[in-house]
Amino acid sequence: MQNVVDVIVIGAGAAGMMCAATAGQRGRSVVLIDHAVKLAEKIRISGGGRCNFTNLNTFASCYQSANPHFVKSALKQYSQFDFIKMVEAHGLGYHEKTLGQLFCDQGSQAIIDMLKAEVDQGDVMWRMDTGIVSIEKTANGFAVVTSRETWQCRSLVVACGGLSIPPIGATGLGFDIAKQFDIPVLSLAPALVPLTFQPQDLWADLAGVAVEDAVVSCGDMQFREAILLTHKGLSGPAILQISSYWRAGDSLEIDLLPDVDFAALWAGANRDALITTILAELLPKRLVQAWLTQWGEIKPLKQYSVKELAAIEESFHHWSIIPSGSVGYKKAEVTRGGVDTQALSSKTMEARHVAGLFFIGEVVDVTGWLGGYNFQWAWSSGYVAGLNC
Ligand code: FDA
Repeated sequence: MQNVVDVIVIGAGAAGMMCAATAGQRGRSVVLIDHAVKLAEKIRISGGGRCNFTNLNTFASCYQSANPHFVKSALKQYSQFDFIKMVEAHGLGYHEKTLGQLFCDQGSQAIIDMLKAEVDQGDVMWRMDTGIVSIEKTANGFAVVTSRETWQCRSLVVACGGLSIPPIGATGLGFDIAKQFDIPVLSLAPALVPLTFQPQDLWADLAGVAVEDAVVSCGDMQFREAILLTHKGLSGPAILQISSYWRAGDSLEIDLLPDVDFAALWAGANRDALITTILAELLPKRLVQAWLTQWGEIKPLKQYSVKELAAIEESFHHWSIIPSGSVGYKKAEVTRGGVDTQALSSKTMEARHVAGLFFIGEVVDVTGWLGGYNFQWAWSSGYVAGLNC
């Protein structure tokens, strides 16, 4: 027997639930299909279990895409303030951690429960633990064969997410569906991901040391946040941010002491003090100690030549390094690249040349910065597709 609905949404993650809820509440008959057993694992693990669900300062410039204007319409139709209203309407609390990032006081499960309640309010049928076997275009829409049953629909919404963290259900199905319908997929790469270094550049014995305020630049982009030394290279918010802009072979420049005027620092310091004692006021002592051994034995400030002090200053302000790569999809928060936005309407997310086919969320070539922007894209793109499918 074939089941007929107005809308099939594949992927019950952030974007898929938002879309299904919106379409269902408009009176569309909707089935929401996901191969995972457990609902919305990525939301659950997000923001360290507290879900950084949006950012107060969401602008188009916080997203990477081959078409930087693409996000504007959806973000305008459903903004960060619309999602905040939903959170408040469900009685959830939230707080701003830093840089406009909003986290849920009750934790990420509360955001999942809220979205599930919205989906249920739209009388959406759930099909968890259900794989997709095949998809075909029909005269009036699509036929989707699943591991349980076959469905017919007018509108098919692809919300399968990206490739990051395969153990919790990420697959390339969304990209495969695009290719099946001759929709280009722009080259994919792990993003918001720790970077790795060549063995000679590693500071592996300093793994775990954090610098709370560093400026990391790659080409024209720069981010000022914390960095973390790891066994394999560097992580921390500023590195995750820049990783989305880094390409193989590019060098990074890191300012470990962005506000420090070394001339003033040396002038105001006790010249008999060890240089490590002076700099350990500003940076973790273990890092300072290891860093300064590049200039031989650690000495009192007065024993360093002007040339040596200039070289030390240069090294802290302009640490230049070429990463060897990234730790890949197993640790990446998102996938960069994806379904080419040229093939989609920015107002509805519908494919321009395949009526009734929609792509939303991370599967699309839209990658937000770290800080709640990716969820906001999922909510905004899911909402506009839900209004139009
Ligand atoms: P999402 O991945 O949420 O959902 C896709 C769904 O499709 C999944 O339920 C999956 O099971 C299903 N699916 C996949 N393949 C399928 C198949 N073959 N058949 C059927 N179903 C299939 N962002 C943010 O803004 N703030 C944050 O705090 C964080 N934190 C964070 C932490 C970690 C560790 C990660 C990995 C990621 C984040 N993110 C984030 C990013 C955020 O999780 C991501 O951008 C959104 O979940 C994307 O939403 P989607 O709905 O597009 O995909």
